[in-house]
Amino acid sequence: MKVAAIAGSIRENSYNTLLLETIKERFSEKFDLDIIKIDKLPLFNQAEELDPPEVVKSFKNQIADYDAVLISTPEYNWSVPGVLKNSLDWLSRGERPMIGKPVMVVGASISLMGTLRAQMDLRRILSAPGISANVLEPAQNEVLITQAHEKFDKNGKLTDEATLKVVDRAVNSFYEMVNG
Ligand code: FNR
Repeated sequence: MKVAAIAGSIRENSYNTLLLETIKERFSEKFDLDIIKIDKLPLFNQAEELDPPEVVKSFKNQIADYDAVLISTPEYNWSVPGVLKNSLDWLSRGERPMIGKPVMVVGASISLMGTLRAQMDLRRILSAPGISANVLEPAQNEVLITQAHEKFDKNGKLTDEATLKVVDRAVNSFYEMVNG
């Protein structure tokens, strides 16, 4: 199983990227995970949707090649960051590699809400017709990391045991969903 992982933050040392790196390391015997960067994608332009710039074509081809997609989103102003929505808008038009793709949603924020509102919006976006992803059900599988600054150590490792248990259970469900 090959998983494409997208972080909704392009910040260096982003907690969401660190979460993806944690999952990559913990599940390295079960699947390969590659972090696919979205920081070089231009702003979506509908006039280019059928013949997008090379960087977009290659992003869409990359996503198409993977068995599944894992998205880790921060919450910006009660929703998903624009940079993440931009990448999903490109994926939703012309060639549409997300249709039917197994997707798991996770997220980390420094607040007490742990990206709840962003994840709810993201799930709604992922069910739009042009995306129509096969999203892992949230029941028992939600990964909402609150107060991220207290759960990752100085080296960027997720060390909070209770959080790691939640992550492991949810990612195992995702693995079973993709392989079951
Ligand atoms: C935030 N942050 C934030 N947090 C939250 O829980 N709800 C929110 O609505 C917002 N809004 C918001 C807007 C903007 C523009 C920024 C820059 C930040 C805080 C945010 O969750 C925190 O900075 C995370 O650490 C960002 O994720 P990364 O970059 O660490 O992955």
